[in-house]
Amino acid sequence: MESSEISVGVIGIGHIGTAHAALIYKGEVPGLRLAAVCDVDPARLSYAESELPGAAVFDDWRKLINSGEVDAVIVATPHPLHAEISACSLQAGLHVLTEKPQDIRLSSAQRANQAADGSGCVYAIMFNQRTNPLFIRLRELVRSGTLGRIKSSSWIVTNWYRTQHYYDEGGWRATWSGEGGGVLMNQAVHNLDIWQWICGMPSRITAFCGIGRYHDIEVEDSAVIYSEYPDGSTGCFITSTGECPGTNRLEICGSMGKAVIEGGVLRLWLLPCDEELLRKNAKTAWVDPKLSYSEYSPEDGGPAHRGVLEAFAGAILNGTPLVADGKEGVCELEIANAAYMSSWLGGVPVSLPIDREKYDSLLSSMQSGSAELGSRGRNITGEYSKRWSVKW
Ligand SMILES: NC(=O)c1ccc[n+]([C@@H]2O[C@H](COP(=O)([O-])OP(=O)(O)OC[C@H]3O[C@@H](n4cnc5c(N)ncnc54)[C@H](O)[C@@H]3O)[C@@H](O)[C@H]2O)c1
Repeated sequence: MESSEISVGVIGIGHIGTAHAALIYKGEVPGLRLAAVCDVDPARLSYAESELPGAAVFDDWRKLINSGEVDAVIVATPHPLHAEISACSLQAGLHVLTEKPQDIRLSSAQRANQAADGSGCVYAIMFNQRTNPLFIRLRELVRSGTLGRIKSSSWIVTNWYRTQHYYDEGGWRATWSGEGGGVLMNQAVHNLDIWQWICGMPSRITAFCGIGRYHDIEVEDSAVIYSEYPDGSTGCFITSTGECPGTNRLEICGSMGKAVIEGGVLRLWLLPCDEELLRKNAKTAWVDPKLSYSEYSPEDGGPAHRGVLEAFAGAILNGTPLVADGKEGVCELEIANAAYMSSWLGGVPVSLPIDREKYDSLLSSMQSGSAELGSRGRNITGEYSKRWSVKW
């Protein structure tokens, strides 16, 4: 791109969209300038007129993308609109950074990726947890082979606790129509992405989702996923918004040792040799190998949303790498959709990639009994909320 400044439009200025817009408006993301915002809620447009003067204001995202005011958009609407707005923006020649999840349906996410192909535009996903040094270090341990061949991963992430009041705020949340799922489609999206980013994509998923187990909602507020990988390794993912105090513990066991992230620390135990050698060669019933132990506790959680925004600007201006591109958005969505499909069908194993048409049809049946969408309470600060972090 020839200019050194990208004019950005933020579509959906609710909680997170306002935080992104405010950061860019204050000039805190080099290379990005807030040129426009869009929302369907008149109260949000009034907010923009008073708090973000100079930014053009639109009540229809199609008008914004065709306005000629912007080079790029940030999509921060409810999830079911993400892929459609992304695809139309890419087709209009605009760069796109979309909030997670990429969409609620793989079929829609794929259409957006097709729009990105050959468009010459950057298509990025806000997977801000990928900038956390703990996950980056663990991924390096796996990819470098330090942990050996992966045997199993297990992630208990039950510290996404939410009250009934959170769900009673209403709106698009916690309904099949409004957000296409519950904890797997909203809170745990980051964890599912990090899980596959580190351990790779499973070939089969079996899952059980607890619909309205703790809250008066029509979608799941707890889920257990059992995953099988092409190399024979396995994984277990447990999440919930109804357990307090919750746990956040990720453990990966490999043939050379074990790594655990919990409480902001990565603990690593390494064997002196591959465990298979111990198991097969020992002349005793059990062994007590000398382990090397180390800990890694970074000072902070990394640059998070700001880091993803900066990488987006860098990719457009200088061709530098994104934190996550559109093609990568599909991975966690494939796991989430497979988990729903497995659960809806009674806990049967589902092979990946899943049958997209079948999923869409199953989701439509869930949506046919979905609650009416209402308006929701608002307490928008324009700041990034601690609530959106993976809390270690
Ligand atoms: N990356 C993160 O850490 C993070 C954190 C929070 C939310 N999110 C994601 O961001 C998205 C929005 O979440 P939120 O908490 O800000 O929700 P929100 O309800 O506070 O904001 C959504 C906004 O979109 C507007 N909107 C709805 N339909 C629209 C349309 N057709 N055109 C333009 N605007 C429209 C709504 O009026 C609202 O102001 C979700 O997909 C969520 O998963 C990501």
